[in-house]
Amino acid sequence: MKVLSVASEAVPLIKTGGLADVAGALPGALAPNGVEVTTLLPGYPSVLKTIGRAKAVHAWESLLGVPARLLSAKIDGYPLLVLDAPALFTRDGAPYTDGAGRDWGDNWRRFSAFGRAAADIAGGVVVSRGKPQRFDVLHAHDWQAAMACAYLRFAPLGGEEGRVPSVVTVHNMAFQGWFGAEIFPSIGLPTAAWTMDGVEYHGGLGMLKAGLACADAVTTVSPTYAREIRSSNFGMGLEGLVIARGHAVSGILNGIDTELWNPAADPALSARYTARTLDKRKTNKRALEIEFGLDEDDGPLFIAVSRLTWQKGMDVLPEVLDHLVGIGGRLALLGAGDRAIERQLREGAARHPGRIGLRFGYDEDLSHRMQGGGDAILIPSRFEPCGLTQLYGLAYGCIPVVARTGGLADTVIDANPAALAAGVATGVQFDGVHYDAMAAALTRTLELWQEPETWAAIQRNAMKADFSWKASGAAYARLYHKIAR
Ligand code: ADP
Ligand code: GLC
Repeated sequence: MKVLSVASEAVPLIKTGGLADVAGALPGALAPNGVEVTTLLPGYPSVLKTIGRAKAVHAWESLLGVPARLLSAKIDGYPLLVLDAPALFTRDGAPYTDGAGRDWGDNWRRFSAFGRAAADIAGGVVVSRGKPQRFDVLHAHDWQAAMACAYLRFAPLGGEEGRVPSVVTVHNMAFQGWFGAEIFPSIGLPTAAWTMDGVEYHGGLGMLKAGLACADAVTTVSPTYAREIRSSNFGMGLEGLVIARGHAVSGILNGIDTELWNPAADPALSARYTARTLDKRKTNKRALEIEFGLDEDDGPLFIAVSRLTWQKGMDVLPEVLDHLVGIGGRLALLGAGDRAIERQLREGAARHPGRIGLRFGYDEDLSHRMQGGGDAILIPSRFEPCGLTQLYGLAYGCIPVVARTGGLADTVIDANPAALAAGVATGVQFDGVHYDAMAAALTRTLELWQEPETWAAIQRNAMKADFSWKASGAAYARLYHKIAR
C-alpha cells in the first residue's frame, strides 16, 4: 500500500504548529503497518535548503500558470517529494504570511497549485522506467492540502484512471482557506465543481470545505473533537457538512514521536530520567529557574509552551497570574503570537519579579527543557483538536492542567477521587476557560502537589501512558485499506 501524505509542514523541515509534528511522524507510524508513506511538501526556502541538490522527477510547464518541478529526496530515510515552484514558494516570510503577518495575497493560487500537483502525483504523473508511479490513497492535511481531494474528484489526471481515493484530516477547523468566487476560473476545475457538493462555500470558495465534501473519508485528530465539530461552536460553519458526511467522519488521536520526546535520552536536558528516577528532575527544575530568572524554592513550577492565541486561552492566563503566585506557584512561559497577550503577560510579570518568567519566540530545545523541569503544564484551550504539549507533558512527568475539550479531554485522566482511588489519574481537567475555573484548577493542582506521594504517583501514571503512534498508526492503516480500491 502506497500513500501520498500531502501537508504544508513537516518536521524537521518546516514547522509552525503541531501539524508539522504529525506529518513528520506519519511515515514512521505507518511503516510497521505495511504502508509506505511518501510526504509531499511545498518548496519553501528552508525545505529546499535542507534537501540540497535533489533529483527532479517531473516538471510542469504550467501548474496553474507557473512553472514547477518535482524534487525527490529522503527525510529520516522516508521518501519525500518537494514541489519546487519558485513563483509560489520561494520568498522571505512565513509559510502563510508575509513579514508583517498579513496572509499572502496569492495563497489561493499557492495552495490550489499544491493540491493540483498532489492530485497529479497520486494519479501517476511521475513515470519511472516507463511506468506511472501511482499511489493507492492520497492523505491531505488541513486546508492547504485539501484542494487535492477536489481535483481528484472533479479533474483527475487522465480521467477515471487517475481518481485515487482520498482522506482529509482536519487538524484545526479555525483555518478554512476561504477565498472569493473570482478565483474559480483560474484554478482549473470544471464548472461542475462549483456546487454545494464541491468547492463552493457561501458564495466563495472554501478549500477545507472542498476537502470535507470531496474526500472519501474525513478524520480529525481526536474522537472528542470529531464529535464537537458537529456543533456550531466547534464546526465554525462546517458543522452541517460534518453531520452530512456521517460515518465517513472519524477521530484518530495523534501520537508522539517517542524518540524525539524521551526524557531518558533527551539531549536537551541537563539530567535525563525515567519514572523510577524522578528525583533527577530537580536538576532540570533548578536549571530552568536560573534560565527564567525565577526564585529558587520548593513550590510548584508551572510552565506554558504555546501559540499566544484565543484558541489556546492565552488571553485568560494573564488574569490568573496573581492567583497562581498567591498560592505559591511560579510560571515559566514560552510563546509567540498575539502582541496584546504578550503585553498583558509582561505586565503580570512586572508585578511579580522572580515569580513569572517569560520568553517570547520559538525555541524547540527550550520547550524540551521546560517539559523536563517544570512540574505542571497549563493548557487552557477553548478548543483543541488534539494538542501535543499535554502528551509531551505526560511523557515527561510534567503534569498537564487542561481544559476539558477535544484531545485534551481524551488524553488526560483527571485526578478526581475515583481516579485517584483507582490509581489512574494523570492530570487535572477543568471546565470552561475563565478565571473561576482556572483559579480553582490551580488550587486543586497545588493541593495535589502538597501530597508528594500522590503527586509522584500521578507523574508515574502519566509517564506510563502510551501515546506512541502504535494504535493510531494501525487505525490510519485500517482506514486507508477501507477506502483503497
Ligand atoms: P498547535 O498546533 O495548535 O499549536 P499542538 O499542541 O498540537 O498545538 O502543537 C504545538 C507544537 O508546537 C508542539 O510541538 C509545541 O511544543 C510547539 N510549540 C508551540 N509554541 C512553541 C514555542 N514558542 N517554542 C517552541 N515550541 C513551541
Ligand atoms: C492543530 C491543532 C492541534 C493539533 C495539531 C496536530 O494545530 O490546533 O490541537 O494537535 O493540529 O494535529
